[in-house]
Amino acid sequence: MPTINVIDRAGATKAVEAKDGVSLMEVIRDEGFDELLALCGGCCSCATCHVHIDPAFKDKLPEMTEDENDLLDSSDHRDENSRLSCQIEMSADLDGITVTIAEED
Ligand code: FES
Repeated sequence: MPTINVIDRAGATKAVEAKDGVSLMEVIRDEGFDELLALCGGCCSCATCHVHIDPAFKDKLPEMTEDENDLLDSSDHRDENSRLSCQIEMSADLDGITVTIAEED
């Protein structure tokens, strides 16, 4: 099972075990990080699951869809490492990834 390191808005890091096949958003949410609102439940229509991804893993992530790109544009906190965590499926390739929960818009 991949392990991910989640950095919350206070700057604290927690290592979390993830099952393959679930979304990164589900892993973070189910670990009780309630600052990741994920209001739309993962259907790519809210942008409240915004995270910043460790750039070392950028090549291992799925391509960003136009919908994800448009939604991220609505955030004041977007940077080159921004992704919507509901659009990233966990796999062994992502073992050791660090993700930082983005500031609230
Ligand atoms: S949970 Fe709404 S866009 Fe990801």
